[in-house]
Amino acid sequence: MEQLIIEGGQKLHGRVKISGSKNAALAILAAAIMTKERVKLHNLPNITDVRVLIAILEDLGASIRRRGRNSIELRSPGLRSYSPPYDMVKKLRASYYLMGSLLARFGRAEVPIPGGCDFGPRPIDQHLKGFSALGTDIEIEHGLVKLRAEKLKAAHIYLDVVSVGATINLMLAATAAEGQTTIENASKEPEIVDAANFLSAMGASIKGAGTDVIRIKGGRPLFSANHTIIPDRIEAGSFMIAAVATDGEIVIEEVIPKHLEAVAAKLREAGAEIELQADRVRVKRGPQLLPVDIKTFVYPGFPTDLQPLAMTLLTAAEGTSVITENVFESRFHHVDELKRMGAQIKVEGRTAIIEGGPPLTGAPVKATDLRAGAAMLVGGFMGQGRTILSGVGQIYRGYEDIEAKLTRLGARLKRIRSSFPALPGESS
Ligand code: UD1
Repeated sequence: MEQLIIEGGQKLHGRVKISGSKNAALAILAAAIMTKERVKLHNLPNITDVRVLIAILEDLGASIRRRGRNSIELRSPGLRSYSPPYDMVKKLRASYYLMGSLLARFGRAEVPIPGGCDFGPRPIDQHLKGFSALGTDIEIEHGLVKLRAEKLKAAHIYLDVVSVGATINLMLAATAAEGQTTIENASKEPEIVDAANFLSAMGASIKGAGTDVIRIKGGRPLFSANHTIIPDRIEAGSFMIAAVATDGEIVIEEVIPKHLEAVAAKLREAGAEIELQADRVRVKRGPQLLPVDIKTFVYPGFPTDLQPLAMTLLTAAEGTSVITENVFESRFHHVDELKRMGAQIKVEGRTAIIEGGPPLTGAPVKATDLRAGAAMLVGGFMGQGRTILSGVGQIYRGYEDIEAKLTRLGARLKRIRSSFPALPGESS
């Protein structure tokens, strides 16, 4: 089991380059098998989730060549299976995108019910409702979602829940459905726009991505494409919060500042100085850290993925802050870990009340999921003394080169191999 030893009290200073978006990359990689022709992808983050999905695609019969650290060439003329293996799929929630892409490619998919971060129940009913509207027969047995469509047909789909995954998955399947499909109450996240841009580059006709009504004219052949993944707004937001939390000053490069407006607005409200420039952001703490209330919401609201990091930051703001988690039912596993570091936080349903002020103290803590792990890193930097973070494999799922990037900014952290075996459910 690997652990990170973090020495608290270092201020982050300098410049950091942001990698490609994890969530866009996962959708786009899954979509890349919808054509038999060659697909080139650039700015693909070198993170565990991407490597797992690449391994799944190879297992299905795709041929993937790395072209440098962040580019690949994918060809899948001889894709031989529509049934990805459970052992790999369980590691990756986004493997649900294989339902949409395999359905589009073969009219069939048999995908194990996906795993991923544990934020309480994470149903896929909206994905399935949409597939069914597109003419798919669905059976769920032995832990497998079995999808079969003689011929996908266009449909008018109204999503009951605004869902990133369902919106993208239905866009993938609808690309192969003859006629015009409309997805109403669609998610508006930038990752949806990026996935739509990639599908369009392959020859699909998609209008309205980035708004709540998306129209897809399906049934067109898909060809070779070349696409560069957008920057990861959650990685960028994580560095923004880390800079403020450590009373540092950093310039975050290669970002789309528009995607960071909700985070920038909240950090400013908390007293930080944020300059959004053409493709970079300068972040500095400011004279005093103030308590703020945050409500997570779908894009363009404050992202749920940054909620654990924001909560960690607010433990240092003198006074009461309130965080309401509107996207996921129980995304507060990091609270117990923060309490180990001395934080005073009370959770009532979807609300966390943070009494900020007293500094955190270093402690042994655990990364309970990807973003909670990032929050623990931030807590470790803020804390007095040494923090020992276990379950760090969670962090490598979504942050490329995280130790190197942080070390260059002045953080003091070291990866070690612990002599204790991993606990059940704890990846390393
Ligand atoms: C995606 C992101 C994740 C991010 C989340 C919200 C990927 C791979 N993951 O997850 O990092 O935290 O968006 O921005 O892109 N829901 C249903 N039925 C469904 C689908 C979703 O009830 O069929 C609910 C979920 O339980 C949740 C809410 O809708 O409460 C939003 O979930 P969704 O947007 O689908 O998140 P994911 O696609 O799983």
